[in-house]
Amino acid sequence: MNRTQAQARIERLRAELNRHNRLYYVETAQEISDRAYDLLYKELQDLETQFPDLVTPDSPTQRVGGEPLKEFRSIAHLQPMMSLDNTYNFEELRAFDTRVRKLLPGEQVEYVLEPKIDGVSISLRYVHGRLLLGATRGDGTTGDDITANIRTIKSIPLSLSPVLNRNLALNPNLKPPPLLEVRGEAYMPLAGFQKMNAARARAGEESLANPRNATAGSLKQLDPRIVAQRPLAAVFYAIGAVDAGAGAPAAAFCPTQAAVLETLKALGLPTPQYWWVCRDMEEVIRRTADFQQRAADLPYEVDGAVVKVNRRDQWTRLGATAKAPRYAIAYKYSHEQARTRLRAITIQVGRTGVLTPVAELEPVALAGSTIARATLHNEEEIKRKDIRVGDLVIVEKAGEVIPAVVGVAPDQRPPDTRPFDIQQHLRGQCPACGGPIRRDPEFVAWRCENIACPAQLKRRLEHFALRRAMDIEGLGEVLINQLVEKQLVQDVADLYSLTVAQLAGLDRMGEKSAANVVAAIEASKQRAWWRLLHGLGILHIGEGAARKLADHFVSLDKLMAADVPALESVPDCGPVMAQSIVDFFQNPRNRTVLNKLRAAGVTLSAAPGAQPAATRGFFAGKTVVITGTLQQWSRDELRERLRSQGAIVTDSVSRKTHFLIVGADPGSKLDKANTCGVPILHEPDLAGKLA
Ligand code: IVH
Repeated sequence: MNRTQAQARIERLRAELNRHNRLYYVETAQEISDRAYDLLYKELQDLETQFPDLVTPDSPTQRVGGEPLKEFRSIAHLQPMMSLDNTYNFEELRAFDTRVRKLLPGEQVEYVLEPKIDGVSISLRYVHGRLLLGATRGDGTTGDDITANIRTIKSIPLSLSPVLNRNLALNPNLKPPPLLEVRGEAYMPLAGFQKMNAARARAGEESLANPRNATAGSLKQLDPRIVAQRPLAAVFYAIGAVDAGAGAPAAAFCPTQAAVLETLKALGLPTPQYWWVCRDMEEVIRRTADFQQRAADLPYEVDGAVVKVNRRDQWTRLGATAKAPRYAIAYKYSHEQARTRLRAITIQVGRTGVLTPVAELEPVALAGSTIARATLHNEEEIKRKDIRVGDLVIVEKAGEVIPAVVGVAPDQRPPDTRPFDIQQHLRGQCPACGGPIRRDPEFVAWRCENIACPAQLKRRLEHFALRRAMDIEGLGEVLINQLVEKQLVQDVADLYSLTVAQLAGLDRMGEKSAANVVAAIEASKQRAWWRLLHGLGILHIGEGAARKLADHFVSLDKLMAADVPALESVPDCGPVMAQSIVDFFQNPRNRTVLNKLRAAGVTLSAAPGAQPAATRGFFAGKTVVITGTLQQWSRDELRERLRSQGAIVTDSVSRKTHFLIVGADPGSKLDKANTCGVPILHEPDLAGKLA
């Protein structure tokens, strides 16, 4: 083969390989076998070895570059990479819409709704369709030049070429413009992340917290050969600087955001799979639920939606604040979701004997931690969602709540699954103690009837020791299991007669830790008595109710003497709670435990002469919200402090909020407080007001 023939063949091979690469990585519509692809690739490699002067940087053989770098060069973005303001509810989305329309009087405003991808933002520069630069966001103005790393990501084309796609109303004259900056996110698909963590575990390396961290860490590698081994991918949703060529106005290149997404896709770049043009904000709002549902099927983590004004000429008129453009806003889901495989369903016995089905999962990163178990709530929920062992399930976690399985991806179901039958699973007995079970209609649940059930006792002890109850440090699950199994405790009061000698003999317990636990148990005797009330685990009585009841009745004796009407006179104490309290104290077993606690010297009343807290001090009875980082307290500490002075501390600002306490870097709550006219207190203001 002569040079001219080789050149023609090389070009043909590159075009073919690029096309298959795109079909595989971008469109997930593979046409040829891996082997056929490898053969084409090998042929190209051989020709390039034979004719080295025909090698070009955008050849598919040139993804993984040479030597590791010493450090990254910094490069200026041609247009700044801004961030987005966040909203968390529809009210704030409507407020955004009102602002936008105020700035564009009399104009129609359409919005594009697209996923907010929780990856690492990157900017690429294509010159005459060739990938020239890839950069991190950096400070928004300059970032690190990570071109060599970016080139290893197979879903990123090294050269842009218009692709005809039957779903695209494509301008047949579309050509890559002379200059185009594209913006998007690099991410690590979940499956790849799990594989990588498994490999790290085998190699004795620390596992990575979540796909986002894994992506950021990979892109920071100085050796592109390492990056090439990481299963990274990318998705693009915006453009920065554009030179549309020969006198063409840049604005004409893509007059709308919808055109941006279509054009990027048409040029061979991966774009979000779902997005919508909405006629108005109400349509955006109507679509968000469906949007969140679908987001669970995407290969990247989605932490919300981004709402953008569609027309780009309107963007110019809307302008930007120092931080974010006024044409777009992020609507963040307060619940984070992830997908993983359901390995098994087991039954957990709760502290009141309720049998809760629990999902045993393939470990998955979710909201900053790794989740291997999640609640399935109850039998009805499993039926309703038709959750089966083997399914790919969607798990969700909001704040501090227990993660839950919220749905399944039915199209990912293996062929041989069966509906889960809890009755068959239970065979009429408690899985922990073998005792009798009964269906409790109130809780749509099965319940173990054996009050001596060791599993129930374990849960009761765990609850008693909680930080939000008796706050006994060192009394965790492992120790509690042993205490129950060795029959060292039969109820919560028995904790107070444990000795160092008894504990020191147990697994993972030396003299020193045993002494610490005994001291922590001893110290809990002095805790405020609402903690005991919470720790007893009376049905329907959570932390908030325990505080109110303790405040109102001042002592256990007074509370025990109260009848249903007296209990119902306490704010927020309804008839079900009142009845539950009466039932609890009528139960002779419970009375025995309380007598034992009294004998042990546990605090069962407020300090002598104490008045109910809600009548004292500056914050008494006031509704308070905290935002930002405080110098002197952690949020938990301040919250506790305020509550002890009768404040009601909540999480969201409304017109009913009395004060917003503001620390450094406040979030959107500050804006909200300003709109609602809520008075602001800064940290120094608290000095004279906190007792
Ligand atoms: S537009 C000027 N669209 O979220 C607006 N950003 O919290 C530029 N992000 O810095 C961004 N998905 O890294 C836009 N569909 C999307 C996005 C998105 C994720 C990231 C982006 C941005 C950050 C702001």
